[in-house]
Formats: sequence, C-alpha cells, structure tokens
Amino acid sequence: MATMTPAAPRPLIAGNWKMNGTLQAGLAELGLLSDRIKSTRGLPEVVVCPPATLLHPAVLALAAFGAAQSVGVGGQDCHAEAKGAHTGDISADSLRDIGCAYVIVGHSERRADHGETDAAVEAKARAAHAAGLTAIVCIGETLDQRDGGRTLDVVSRQIAGSVPAGATAANTVVAYEPVWAIGTGRTPTADQVAEVHARLRADLVARFADGAAFRLLYGGSVKASNAAELMAVANVDGALVGGASLKAEDFWPIVEAKISR
Ligand code: PGA
Repeated sequence: MATMTPAAPRPLIAGNWKMNGTLQAGLAELGLLSDRIKSTRGLPEVVVCPPATLLHPAVLALAAFGAAQSVGVGGQDCHAEAKGAHTGDISADSLRDIGCAYVIVGHSERRADHGETDAAVEAKARAAHAAGLTAIVCIGETLDQRDGGRTLDVVSRQIAGSVPAGATAANTVVAYEPVWAIGTGRTPTADQVAEVHARLRADLVARFADGAAFRLLYGGSVKASNAAELMAVANVDGALVGGASLKAEDFWPIVEAKISR
C-alpha cells in the first residue's frame, strides 16, 4: 500500500472559469460550494479563478458565506509591470488589493491568443511574487509535440523558462496542462501524467532547495469521472480544472478526490 511521504505538499484544487460566469449565477455557485466545504474536513486547498469582473464580488461573497478561509480567489492573468499605461490589463498589485491570493500565468490559451512566451510568463510570475501572490504557472505540450516524442523536452524547457529564479514552494504552483487535453474531453493516461510529473519534479528539485514541496497540478479535461485516477498519480498534488469548475456540483467531486481521510 502506498504511504504518504512526510513532506507531501498540501493538495490544491483550482477552478479556472475562463471567460464564463455572470454575477448572479457565479456567486450562486460559490454559495453552493461554500456549503459543501464548510461541512467537510481534511480538505485540499481550494481556489477559484473567475473572470476579472467577478473577482471582487467573489472575494466579498466567500467572506459573507463564511468560506473565505477555505476558498481562495485568483486572477487568470496579470501584467508584468506593477502599474502604468497598459489599457485593459490588470496588475498583480490590483489583484492583491482586492483580496486575491493567486494568479494563473502562462495558460496555454494566453500563450496562443496573446503570443505569450516563456520569458513573458516568467516576468508575470515575478510580478505576482512581488505583489505577494502565489503564481500558478502553466505549461504543457501540443499534440504535434507529443506525437513527435518531444513532450519531456518541451515541458522541461517551459518550466525552466517560465518559473523565475526566486520561486519557492510557497509562492509558486506548476500546472501541467497538455494543450490537446484542454477542453477536449481527452486526457493522457495515468502513466503519461506520471512520466511528465516525475520529470517536472526532478527539474524542480535540481533547481530549488524546496523543489520537493512545490505543488504540481494536472489540468486538462479533469472531471468527476476521472479525478480519482488522475489525482492518485505520483507527484500530482492537485488539479487545475476548467469546464468542470463552473458548477459546484461538477467541481465538488474533484475536490473530494483530494480530501485526506
Ligand atoms: P478543461 O480546462 O478542464 O476545461 O479542460 C483546463 C484548463 O484550461 O485549465
């Protein structure tokens, strides 16, 4: 039987709502989630990352629901600079100011839609750290890269280029999200996830004194029916969940998959 190593990091389940959710319906889902969470012990850390318009309402609502200690709030992106003439962007300081504790950086949709490079993602992660936020740094290979046998090289290059030198297990989480698994209903096998996470762990341990304690999330089509299997894989310390995070009834079984009993 598998035993937990003493240094096992506290698991983290993060929901990425992407460009979805309205004020009324979004807060109602947070109310349902809060009810479940308040009556549960041994929880993983839980974070929701709604769109920018809902960040402050979410912070206020979770406090009103008495769930602010159990559910953190995170942005989906931040600018690399602390402030200035950058119309439409949001700084890490602004996220922190309204009560966010996390920010996702380098999601593959931002890398694809906005041409974000590893260097740009690394600068955003540094801005997050400077503001006192925990950065959830996303990496992952495309289908072409996997089919070409380049997955491990790609993720090693991405983690080296996107995670800043000043990262610690306290201020940085790494999310492995194969691009071809995001929003597609397709997932890698448990063995494929284990292989990538073992590589990422080795890279972190080689570079950081506390590399063994970084949370490594898996993301890409995580849902109730596959969460238990994926969350049991070695070096998987939680999940970054897109579509299945929008409704509390879909998100909750994924949180449950990482409850320690
Ligand atoms: P998905 O998205 O769960 O809808 O595949 C995951 C993500 O993009 O973070």
